[in-house]
This record gives sequence, C-alpha cells and structure tokens, in this order.
Amino acid sequence: MYNTCIAAIATPLLVRIPQLRPLNIVRDLPGVADLVEKCFADTMDADGRTYIQQMRRAGQDNVFLRWASSAVETASMPLSGYIWEEKGDIIGNVSLIPYRHARKKYYLIANVAVRPEYRNRGIGRALTVAAMQHAKQRRADETWLHVRDDNPGAIELYRSLGFVDVTRRTTWQAQPDRNASAGSLGIVVTRRAARDWPAQETWLRRLYPDLLTWYQPMPWNSLRPGLGPALYRFMSDYDVRHWVARTDSISSAVVSWQAMAGRTNRLWIAVPPEGNEDILTALLLHARHELFWREKISLDFPAGQYNTSIEAAGFHPHRTLLWMKSNETSPDENRKSI
Ligand SMILES: CC(C)(COP(=O)(O)OP(=O)(O)OC[C@H]1O[C@@H](n2cnc3c(N)ncnc32)[C@H](O)[C@@H]1OP(=O)(O)O)[C@@H](O)C(=O)NCCC(=O)NCCS
Repeated sequence: MYNTCIAAIATPLLVRIPQLRPLNIVRDLPGVADLVEKCFADTMDADGRTYIQQMRRAGQDNVFLRWASSAVETASMPLSGYIWEEKGDIIGNVSLIPYRHARKKYYLIANVAVRPEYRNRGIGRALTVAAMQHAKQRRADETWLHVRDDNPGAIELYRSLGFVDVTRRTTWQAQPDRNASAGSLGIVVTRRAARDWPAQETWLRRLYPDLLTWYQPMPWNSLRPGLGPALYRFMSDYDVRHWVARTDSISSAVVSWQAMAGRTNRLWIAVPPEGNEDILTALLLHARHELFWREKISLDFPAGQYNTSIEAAGFHPHRTLLWMKSNETSPDENRKSI
C-alpha cells in the first residue's frame, strides 16, 4: 500500500517535467560543481571551496565514478540528486546525502541551486519536491536540510513545502594568536583534569544534543579522559587539547580543541546554561593563545547563546544555519506551474 501511494506521488513529477531528471554521477559532476560554485559564490568559505575541488576531481576519476555509481544510496556524500537540464545545460541541482544513525535512515537535502537567470519559475520548488519524494520512496525516517538564516527566499520555499524550524546553530571562527590574553579578567585557566569530565560531559550533551548527532556525531573518544580514549587517540593519530576554568576549585567551563584533517580545526565548548560570561571569554582567549602556532579555529554553538563572551574573545560569527526538518507527508509540487 505504502509503495503504491509513493509511486503515484513520485512518478508523475519526473514524467511530467522532461527537464527534471536524476543526477548522473558519471556525467554531471563538473556541471554541478560549476553551478554550485556560481550560486553560492557570495557565501562560500574555504571548506566550501575544498568541497567544490573534490567534486571536480571526483568527476575526472574513473575509479571513483565506478564505485560511486554503485554506492549512491550508502555513502554519506552527494552522489545522488536531481538535475534541471535545458538544451544540454545544467540549470538547477539538488543533492541528497544519506545518513544512518541509531537504526534510522536520514536524508540531507543540500546544494539546492538554480542559475540566476532561471529563478522564480518554480525550478527550485520542483527540485526540492523531487528530493523529498526520493527520500520518501526510500523509506527515510527523517528528511532534513540546512539553510543560512540570512536567506529568506530559500527559507520561505522550504516552509511552503512543509519543512519546520528545529534549531539554529552559529559557526564562529577566530585565528589563534600568541598575544591573546585573558590576564585582565583574573580567571585561572589550567589544563583539564579527569575530575572535570562529568560536568563537561553534562554540558556538552546539552549544547550538542542527540537530535543533531545523525549529522554531527560527537567525538566522545577524543574528548573523554582516561587510558582507553588516550590509546585510541594515539592509534588514530588524533590531536586534542583541553582547558578548564575553575571557580573555588570547581570547574566552571571547559573547552576542547580537536585537529581536523583537511578542515578547519574545532573547539567544543562546555558551559552551564547560566554560566559566567567572563569565564567563557577567558577560556577562549586562553585557547587562542595556546594554539598560536595552529591554523584557524571554528566553533559550532547554539545561536544566540553566550554571543557577548564569544565575541569578546575575538571570534566572529561566520554563519548561522537554520536546521529544518520535513513534516510533510505529501509535498505539494503543484503550487506553481512550470
Ligand atoms: C533558493 C533558490 C534555489 C530558489 O530557486 P527558484 O527556482 O528561484 O525557486 P522557485 O521559483 O521554485 O520559488 C519557489 C518559492 O521560493 C520562494 N522564493 C524564492 N526566491 C525568493 C525570494 N527572492 N524572495 C522570497 N521568496 C522567494 C517563494 O516562496 C517561492 O514561492 P512561489 O513558488 O509561491 O513564488 C534560488 O534562489 C538559488 O539558487 N539561490 C542561490 C542558492 C541558494 O541560496 N540555495 C539555497 C540553499 S539552502
């Protein structure tokens, strides 16, 4: 019964719209890379540029393409999706990235992009609906997407298709700096001890909730103290550092730094809900100072929390992403004629 209904919903969209077709991983990657680069030019960062380069390289790698053709529904990479094509040109794209977590199947809809001169004709809507139907046909438990919160047009599109806001996360960035100093704040920051872990874990679980871990798994083995995790880090060549700020010998906030191969290094902040703003500032300044010989650091945090202390430590907001989840059982693709 379920399959019959899905087929009735899904087939007509692809049949009725000849310009809409599934992504062909062997042929389309260079064209999709060009489109995504053009459509996201204003907001693309270093990680985004690396992603585009990887897409271009993958498009020329025959071994990869052979593997990718067979792995489209299992790899956590944008190997499947839909294309809007006119006269042989790629006009629009949507990517689908599958994830598995805690026995559930997730799809992330990404890279929704339409060439500027073709916008406002319903192409973005048709591509997103095709992606939603794809996820539904493959029995996804949940379908998500991330959109910058300063992109009202795209947010409006997704809301009209039944996506609802779940959370907003801000990515902050800063350069490590030998001269960063928290001296004037009079707060003592030291290396983390094993006894700081219970509070750190509790605060981390609140700030990086389970709800988000299908996409952003917590690196618990990199963060936990103890011999087992240390051995794991040694074997896996993971580099981490931890610092704690204490008040009256009790930990008030903890920060962990994690080196990320090929990507911006990360900080994980653990603070109580109503903690002292200066303590977090001091901790972050200390981390910037101690890491002076390292590359840029980035920090993902619930939007709107501790903004003043993070900014006072020399971090700037890189972007805020709205995480949206589909509540729609039958996306309405007919709101605009194409
Ligand atoms: C977002 C984007 C994909 C929309 O593509 P599009 O083909 O123009 O979208 P559609 O014509 O299907 O518009 C669908 C809906 O989007 C909304 N929308 C699109 N552009 C909008 C704008 N500038 N302002 C307000 N709403 C807008 C409207 O709700 C519209 O509804 P309607 O069909 O009732 O008019 C396109 O603008 C784009 O490529 N932007 C750059 C890349 C980007 O930001 N992608 C989103 C990443 S999450």
